[in-house]
Amino acid sequence: MKIIKFVSVAIAIVLFASCTKKENTISSIDKRVDSLISLMTLEEKIGQLNLPSAGAFVTGSVESSDIAKKIEQGKVGGLFNIKTVANIREMQKIAVEKSRLKIPLIFGMDVIHGYESVFPIPLGLSCSWDMKLIERSARIAATEASADGINWTFSPMVDISRDPRWGRISEGSGEDPYLGSQIAKAMVTGFQGNDLSANNTIMSCVKHYALYGASEAGRDYNTVDMSHNRMYNEYFPPYKAAVDAGVGSVMASFNEIDGIPATANKWLLTEVLRNQWGFNGFLVSDYTGVSEMINHGIGDLQTVSARALDAGLDMDMVSEGLLTTLGKSVSDGIVTEQQITEACRRILEAKFKLGLFDNPYKYCDDSRAKSEVFTDANRAEARSTAAQSFVLLKNANNILPIKKSGTIALVGPLADAKENMTGTWSVAARFSESISVLEGLKKAVGTDAQIVYAKGSNLTEDEVLENNSTLFGKGLHRDKRTAAQLREEAVRIAQGADVIIAAVGEAAEMSGEAASRSNIEVPEIQRELIQALVKTGKPVVLVLFTGRPLALAWEDKNVSTILNVWFGGSEAGDAIADVVFGDVNPSGKLSTTFPQNVGQVPIYYAHKNTGRPLSGPWFQKFQSNYLDVSNEPLYPFGFGLSYTTYSYSDIKLSSPGMNASDSLVVSVDVTNTGSREGKEVVQLYIRDIIGTITRPVKELKAFEKIYLAAGETKTVKFTLHQSDLSFYNADLKFVAEPGEFHVFVGGNSRDVKQASFVLK
Ligand code: NOJ
Repeated sequence: MKIIKFVSVAIAIVLFASCTKKENTISSIDKRVDSLISLMTLEEKIGQLNLPSAGAFVTGSVESSDIAKKIEQGKVGGLFNIKTVANIREMQKIAVEKSRLKIPLIFGMDVIHGYESVFPIPLGLSCSWDMKLIERSARIAATEASADGINWTFSPMVDISRDPRWGRISEGSGEDPYLGSQIAKAMVTGFQGNDLSANNTIMSCVKHYALYGASEAGRDYNTVDMSHNRMYNEYFPPYKAAVDAGVGSVMASFNEIDGIPATANKWLLTEVLRNQWGFNGFLVSDYTGVSEMINHGIGDLQTVSARALDAGLDMDMVSEGLLTTLGKSVSDGIVTEQQITEACRRILEAKFKLGLFDNPYKYCDDSRAKSEVFTDANRAEARSTAAQSFVLLKNANNILPIKKSGTIALVGPLADAKENMTGTWSVAARFSESISVLEGLKKAVGTDAQIVYAKGSNLTEDEVLENNSTLFGKGLHRDKRTAAQLREEAVRIAQGADVIIAAVGEAAEMSGEAASRSNIEVPEIQRELIQALVKTGKPVVLVLFTGRPLALAWEDKNVSTILNVWFGGSEAGDAIADVVFGDVNPSGKLSTTFPQNVGQVPIYYAHKNTGRPLSGPWFQKFQSNYLDVSNEPLYPFGFGLSYTTYSYSDIKLSSPGMNASDSLVVSVDVTNTGSREGKEVVQLYIRDIIGTITRPVKELKAFEKIYLAAGETKTVKFTLHQSDLSFYNADLKFVAEPGEFHVFVGGNSRDVKQASFVLK
């Protein structure tokens, strides 16, 4: 008996080893995984499902102790929150030299918007509407992260959100399923490239599956409840787009869906993701997502762990629920060893795809770490990308761009705040080397102009709120002087200046995880500062920092110029100077609606018509509107100004009708009617007039960012296919229904030209 077992293990080792140098084709990976699995004990298989956090940057409680020992015992499949080649090599060495089967670890990290060269926060990046640019940002992030030992990123975050109270709206691409899907694809392609086994590509993990951005009241981790119709048509598309783009892994979200937490939701994880969409990578929980199901109230650790595995989850981030209870669950007959084998197989497959079995140290190259991270070229790309993400919200009297001459007063709590420039989720950033607005402006003007600076105000009067909004080393150096003293100093310097730039808004950690706000206005104390600055009679430019759409009705009414700069990344200050002085013409367009006030939330352009739509002026009794605020947003989806102006011709259609198998070409002439070159995002929306289920009043279906020299006209052509007119009907079938469609083209979702056609 013993001899037979010895012989079969020996054969398996030979088979596994004989394949190790082969090309990573699907069939060769299958064989290698099979032979490896045949060598594994149940405990070793369960060990692969365990993902402890290794580092100091944590987003919850730390459950795992003595990680090195666990790696040696084969109880760890991967680690995250660990960086640098030296640290990663040390951990990998334990896995491949000391554990019985020498299975390499996978190393994850939240490489969200750049690595050390930090790009704008995702919400800002999405406002570039430039897919090549976004893909390149992910490519650079992957190059830098992989040069530092990392091979797996928890990105992209593609949660649609229509609630700016939710802090994590900053981490996604806004409110729209179509734009969000294009960006999901660009990010996955950027991270993974076309060869996952190359040493400068990393595995992407799309998150948070699913619907996390619809948490009730915008409070993080809160309950989600949504119709399947809305899921399929509005919230699912970006996750599906990532799967279609070949994403290697998916992260389950914290929220419940139909009363079952996503982490244990079999319909979501297996039926939709694997069966309907054909996902064949591995599924990881979010941070303690497994053990949190005890609080959700669906069982003890053994029960929730078994439910997660049964639902289709493969890897457990931090909880150690799978590690500590699955053995017992097999003995108790609650789960089968086969289910564990399947989960283990998917994780091993990912490691094979990354080429870790061929060379576990392939990402541990000291010379790459020295030469490929935070390079001048990457920083230059981060700078130009940041400038593309800024959205010019208001520019009355064309105060922007300003001249590099005279005296410029720079005030505000975000003006000299380098630690805040990178925004939320920038764990690898070198804060001390980020470029502040003060530095950026000074560098840009040299000796041609004088920049005078005063802080003007703290972030907020509430010290506790300021502390909670400036975590993770992103302090704002609270000034002990009174608000009046700070303001007076700012007004004094402003009075002697030709123009005032006020760098105001939110701190970096006022958005992001567990950073929801019930009041989405600029903090009162900063508003008082702005008011005092406006009173000087000098032109005031707001350089507005924010991780979410803010309610800016007061600012819009009282200040002539607002440039929304989100959090632009490590080079933010230089990029802001580029735009403020007109070296770059702003071209960003909003990917989320800006409300007039928080009471309008959720407000989004692709709403339904209702049975009592407001037609005609606001207010009308017994129509769908408010007594105290109109239905209009402050700034609509797709909106953003430029230093030049554009005009749109009427729409031309290639035909008044379209057969299901045909296509229809929609064309429009766009002219740069101003005196300087610029880029314009030309947007196409449709409306399906009559459907078997209600359809939104507008839906983005295509866009193109074009460059126009002053005076130049370009004809932009969009081709619509049946799939562009399709939606998930009451039976969740993806269909296009014959009938009339409106098509709209314009520079934002509100100001559009319109035409109609019929789908036969
Ligand atoms: C919790 C967050 O929800 C998720 O986005 C992140 O990837 C993990 N923590 C790991 O840091």
